[in-house]
Amino acid sequence: MTQDQWNSVDRYVSELLVPEDEALTEALAASDAAGLPAIAVAPNQGKLLHLLARIQGARTALEIGTLGGYSTIWLARALPEDGRLISLEYSPEHADVARANLARAGLDKVAEVRIGAALDLLPRIEKEPGAGPFDLVFIDADKVNNARYVEWALRLTKPGSVIVVDNVIRAGAITDPATDDPAVRGTRELFDLVSNDPRLDATAVQTVGVKGWDGLLVARVVG
Ligand code: SAH
Ligand code: DHB
Ligand code: MG
Repeated sequence: MTQDQWNSVDRYVSELLVPEDEALTEALAASDAAGLPAIAVAPNQGKLLHLLARIQGARTALEIGTLGGYSTIWLARALPEDGRLISLEYSPEHADVARANLARAGLDKVAEVRIGAALDLLPRIEKEPGAGPFDLVFIDADKVNNARYVEWALRLTKPGSVIVVDNVIRAGAITDPATDDPAVRGTRELFDLVSNDPRLDATAVQTVGVKGWDGLLVARVVG
């Protein structure tokens, strides 16, 4: 299989099942125009996040790693009108683009972007009355801190909550014993933590598509 074939299958699926609308298309166009890297989740992955949130009945969500707010839009749209999403973003430039994209999508009442290093922002969220617990947490930021983010997700969720982590396969590097990539090591630390923590029931699936060969980890908070 080649990347071209993966692209055409992703296009096939997305054309049939993931109709693009103006807000999503413009979010990507504005991100591109502002020079943000093209690393948002693929349309069919954004739809998967949306469906997971819907299936879970999520009213609140926490996202770590906003970029231009593309995944944020998919998640925020899954929440009820009085729902709440908090998305954490280190780069003020990325956050600016995301805020404009959320406003254009009519989601600025449901979704807010907070600027800073997630590990600095998360302790404040824990102390904030009414901010948690979150029904769904999507982790998609600096991969070296993946295990730390899952630890925080556990503090900020409740039994039945869902935790999703992007980019956990990394073109198979996850099983390459010779790797010295800190992102891979951070993600292995995440797998070790999830596999050893009885509060989490999890799986991970490999994916191929427009974003190459990668994968998602999905966990349910047991208790
Ligand atoms: N979830 C987005 C993509 C996120 S890309 C989508 O699918 O549309 C990863 C983002 O994480 C980048 O915008 C990067 O600036 C941000 N990031 C990196 N390190 C971070 C940190 N320590 N805290 C918060 N955000 C961080
Ligand atoms: C990168 C980050 C992501 O979250 C992603 O989905 C793809 C690539 C990156 O940093 O290169
Ligand atoms: Mg990602």
